[in-house]
Amino acid sequence: MRRAPAQPNSEIAPKVTGLWRDAARLCKARGMTHALTIPTPDDWHLHLRDGAMLRAVLPATTAHFARAIIMPNLIPPVVTSADAAAYRDRILAALPEGSDFAPLMTLYLTEETDAEDVAAAHASGLITAVKLYPAGATTNSASGVSDFARVEGVLSRMAEIGLPLCVHGEVTDPAIDIFDRETVFIDRVLDPLRNRVPGLKVVMEHITTAGAVDYVRANDTNLAATITTHHLVINRNHILAGGIRPHYYCLPVAKREEHRLALRAAATSGDARFFLGTDSAPHTDPAKLQPCGCAGCFTAPNTLPILAHVFEEDGALDRLEAFTSLNGPAFYGLPVNETTLTLTRTPAPVPGCVDTPDGPVTVFDPGFTPNWSVT
Ligand code: DOR
Ligand code: ZN
Repeated sequence: MRRAPAQPNSEIAPKVTGLWRDAARLCKARGMTHALTIPTPDDWHLHLRDGAMLRAVLPATTAHFARAIIMPNLIPPVVTSADAAAYRDRILAALPEGSDFAPLMTLYLTEETDAEDVAAAHASGLITAVKLYPAGATTNSASGVSDFARVEGVLSRMAEIGLPLCVHGEVTDPAIDIFDRETVFIDRVLDPLRNRVPGLKVVMEHITTAGAVDYVRANDTNLAATITTHHLVINRNHILAGGIRPHYYCLPVAKREEHRLALRAAATSGDARFFLGTDSAPHTDPAKLQPCGCAGCFTAPNTLPILAHVFEEDGALDRLEAFTSLNGPAFYGLPVNETTLTLTRTPAPVPGCVDTPDGPVTVFDPGFTPNWSVT
């Protein structure tokens, strides 16, 4: 398994948590930050699933996040306001004792979606966004959209009421190389759609290319992008070179190194148009480790240690809170969380698997030991 070469500051990183106080003294002596307190983060793109899997993975998110945009790609998908209300209630019922985590619900856009149902769900505060899956683009997307003209009525209504559209930005044309599907989607689908529905607030979800970063940067209003933890850490070599690593396979698939670096620059820049959406997508090991394995990286348990490490490596620790806690609420028009989360300079090894009745779920291994832990 890949380990990062030399980590900055690794010579003073405490080897065991018990050395915390020594490390604090050393950090102070060297003028380094030892503890970082930020407004409690939100996850603007999260898969919680349902049933036993929901109950198994939810605590990892509620431990570190105050709110999350909940993806609706269940089987069957969350397509009506009644579906969303029932799913929200199942999530609330599964919350760990004492948690005040708020699930921000979404509707799964289909060619049959009723604009009035969407508007009513928004007006009542039930939903925070609508999710667009091109049909066949990813896990449980078969009920998504094939003919984008057929959803324009709903999108126009959403533009009127200021309800954001979260977009899985990949074309599904089998003739298009999988590494080009995001770029082609922006040219063929997203840009024309945004021109046809002016005023629609769009979040490009889990962007993976320098072109998507540039597209967001070139547009001042109504456009933002989420970036995942894993796309800041892995490129396509990590999936494919020297053996195939199913736990790094997700959609959109990680691209070349130059794209990972562009994502890192965007995430660590503080630019308000980029914020965290982990796309933490749990699948059991039996579902991942097979001839046709599922797409998804399970990053909810260790996202914050990894991000703190990455931001420090890029000299941007002071901008971590913009990415995790400030930019997302600003785009969605929500208040910043009043509670806080503290990270301390203590190594955070990869957490163990999360057990479910259908098998273990392996946590994303960044290939290095983050220098930071959530306190
Ligand atoms: O890797 C992914 N997994 N990408 C998606 O778009 C969906 C997700 C899932 O639901 O498993
Ligand atoms: Zn997703």
